[in-house]
Amino acid sequence: MKPAINKKAIVLGGSSGIGLETSRLLANQGVEVIVGSRRGVLDEPLSGVHVESVDVLDRQSLQSFLERHRQFDYLVNSATGGQRAVGPFLDMDIEGFRGSFAKLWGYTNSVHLGARHVKSNGAIVLVSGYPARRFKPGYIAISTVGNAVEGFVRGMAHELKPIRINAVAPGLIDTPMFSQQGHDREIFLSESTKDHLIPRAGKPEEVAKAIQFALENEFVTGTTIDVDGGALIH
Ligand SMILES: NC(=O)c1ccc[n+]([C@@H]2O[C@H](COP(=O)([O-])OP(=O)(O)OC[C@H]3O[C@@H](n4cnc5c(N)ncnc54)[C@H](OP(=O)(O)O)[C@@H]3O)[C@@H](O)[C@H]2O)c1
Repeated sequence: MKPAINKKAIVLGGSSGIGLETSRLLANQGVEVIVGSRRGVLDEPLSGVHVESVDVLDRQSLQSFLERHRQFDYLVNSATGGQRAVGPFLDMDIEGFRGSFAKLWGYTNSVHLGARHVKSNGAIVLVSGYPARRFKPGYIAISTVGNAVEGFVRGMAHELKPIRINAVAPGLIDTPMFSQQGHDREIFLSESTKDHLIPRAGKPEEVAKAIQFALENEFVTGTTIDVDGGALIH
């Protein structure tokens, strides 16, 4: 039995990958965790984690979800949101480019509707990504969205204080966001990270630890924490 610490966390996108490991880590500490995702199911039940169906892009569904669970100490959003356009900007279907911003709309919806339900000594974390500041050819849409997320966090830290808000920017992490399986997956992950200072894909639990740090450390706000195996500086 874990010791209860009388804290409550909402983790949007907490049914898979980085969000799932964040939910596990918080629940293991005794935090009551409410996960929201479109499917509203966990592949395997987790003690201390309750899951519900909610779409971060559907403001009505999100509002009633957040109101049902107010007041909470922590709000984490790691929901991927939608499709990501890849390729050169000048050749890109502009609707695909715009569609990549679904992640930003999901994040901004959750802060717009959720911040009022976060306790005044609470904290918010949004998950960005290393392409925001490490440009790679073909990643202009993802890079632009990541920059917007990090800029939003820096600006909103002023408006939300004393509530803290931070971004965590993962490098390439081995999660179900990538659909390749078996040998193809191994090749993809190793090829994509071979020039990084730590030449492997990260584990979602390594990112979850940074999210936990940003939630708990009361002297951290308005910043981005990189957990990327040196991908930014390779
Ligand atoms: N993995 C990486 O290498 C990497 C690198 C840099 C940044 N990131 C960022 O890290 C975040 C988490 O990625 P991940 O790798 O953990 O992804 P993941 O394993 O695919 O998990 C995504 C989660 O988001 C939920 N979700 C997606 N759209 C949603 C919506 N509209 N409403 C509610 N929930 C939604 C999914 O559940 P449902 O399908 O049930 O909705 C799932 O729980 C994303 O923002 C991603 O861009 C990841």
